[in-house]
Amino acid sequence: MAGTTSHPRLLAWIEEIKALCKPDSVYICDGSAEENERLCNEMVDSGMFIRLNPEKRPNSFLARSDPRDVARVEDRTFICSTNSTDAGPTNNWMEPSKMKKVLRGLFDGCMRGRTMYVVPFSMGPLGSPIAKLGVEITDSPYVAVNMRIMTRMGQGALDVLGDDGEFIPCMHSVGQPLAEGHESDRWPCNPDNTYISHFPETREIWSFGSGYGGNALLGKKCLALRIASVMGRDEGWLAEHMLVLGVENPQGTKRYVAAAFPSACGKTNFAMMVPPKGFEGWKIWTVGDDIAWIKPGADGRFYAINPEAGFFGVAPGTGLETNPNAIATLHANCIFTNVALTDDGDVWWEGLTKEPPAHLIDWRGNDWTPESKTPAAHPNSRFTAPVSQCPSVDPKWEDPAGVQLSAFIFGGRMSKDQPLVYQAFNWSHGVYLAATMGSEATAAAVGQAAMRRDPFAMLPFCGYNMADYFNHWLNVGRLNPNPPRIFRVNWFRKDENGKFIWPGFGQNMRVLEWILKRISGTGYAIESPLGWMPRYEDLSWEGLDFPKEQFKGLMAVGRESGTVEAHAHEELFDRFFDRLPKEFVYERELLRSRLWRSPKRWELLAGAETAPGGL
Ligand code: OXD
Ligand code: MN
Repeated sequence: MAGTTSHPRLLAWIEEIKALCKPDSVYICDGSAEENERLCNEMVDSGMFIRLNPEKRPNSFLARSDPRDVARVEDRTFICSTNSTDAGPTNNWMEPSKMKKVLRGLFDGCMRGRTMYVVPFSMGPLGSPIAKLGVEITDSPYVAVNMRIMTRMGQGALDVLGDDGEFIPCMHSVGQPLAEGHESDRWPCNPDNTYISHFPETREIWSFGSGYGGNALLGKKCLALRIASVMGRDEGWLAEHMLVLGVENPQGTKRYVAAAFPSACGKTNFAMMVPPKGFEGWKIWTVGDDIAWIKPGADGRFYAINPEAGFFGVAPGTGLETNPNAIATLHANCIFTNVALTDDGDVWWEGLTKEPPAHLIDWRGNDWTPESKTPAAHPNSRFTAPVSQCPSVDPKWEDPAGVQLSAFIFGGRMSKDQPLVYQAFNWSHGVYLAATMGSEATAAAVGQAAMRRDPFAMLPFCGYNMADYFNHWLNVGRLNPNPPRIFRVNWFRKDENGKFIWPGFGQNMRVLEWILKRISGTGYAIESPLGWMPRYEDLSWEGLDFPKEQFKGLMAVGRESGTVEAHAHEELFDRFFDRLPKEFVYERELLRSRLWRSPKRWELLAGAETAPGGL
């Protein structure tokens, strides 16, 4: 069986793309288990998939990519709006007709010798009023089977589309046509000609040359963030790079929060957190680990859905101690990419177990032992797993109405000068905190920590000018009477010996509990120049030995360095010229003057040189 449709525009588009790409055959996916089985078996035969030991990990597979195709390629990602200013200074831009010309040239005949798969999918529950439909045309069976886990893929999506529904066309090719009689590479790709192109005005995606992750699974970063962020701007909602979780106290009160962290800052771990010792009776419920679509309701509150149906998580660092819920999620029906293979046909990666196995086949297909100098799994190796298999999955994760958000949490990765947690004074201050977040990247050459600003963790994912995005955020807060409260966190502070001060993982529950108290109106905080901060005694320390002195090191911000940081915000903002919200200029000045011009309050609370949290 294959998928069937009588949607005239979809059928015409399929014909048009077939004529352009010249595949050997065309197949419309129905999303069934039989189809999945067949495609996976074909990939086992072609060498693209290794079937894992069914006794250890049923219905699961390992793929190894070309070592040149292992991650999203931001420098080859383009936003092709008519005017370059609508893409803004943080996106690569090319004029749409010029990009189309380049792409038509590349796509011409690019599927020769291959099957063209038509992959219909829904981002969000099938038929939900806030879901969006897409159709990805791809020459990669790996993409088709991954999309089946990551989205609601197949005949169900075609049925919702009917004869005249709207869909976002998503074109994808690995960019390696096969000459007559030639065998395909095990992982075909075309790294010298990669283009991940978005056309926000016509709502189209064209991706060429990469078969990996967000470059190829076009429902995720391309549709659910870059294109959806533009739709959200036009329609008054938000498409965000955020996890969503529910937190429930022993009395049964439950609240939902959404949190944004830059890539590789542990979003999946946070979304599936297990409360630590001292928090018996508390529960964390997982709605999503990467993307949230957030719409204001008629009541002026904000409601979030997870548009995805799967996790595409970073494998290394995921273990029973750091994320037992993820480990349980991965027990079956998963695809692993670029992790290591054990001798008994299972998978392994750094951090899965304390002791590595004595022998492995590494992600490149070579023998590996603990003495090897290179990692067994690629640092960006991934698992693709169904959300429904997660033990902490929230009962409302597929509720088309979404879950009501009480807080936004924004976190960067800073070794100093950013406290563990504080709360914004108000909405525009919170938007400012989110816009100025970032992560340190070690600049090896100078041996210094360099800051990569990543506003809202959306730098690589905003489909339009980020200054307009900041304005959009300010507006949705202004237009709705009950927006969530905004918090900023930082799990990554280090001491003078370069060691992390905060244990993180499940212990982040302590921060979440304070946030919960704040949104319920029961949490105490003191007013500091940065925002509302907890004192040591405002966090629960039951079950953790964490002395007050250490807490100081986690919260304190020097007046001098705080001012330097405030000053550095200009570097980011100057790039946006006159599109930058005026509020940001005032917020920065207010921050500067709070840091310097209220000495009485400052000294009263903080002593000479540190923020009040350091008391
Ligand atoms: C991801 C990312 O893969 O943010 O989710 O890079
Ligand atoms: Mn992400």
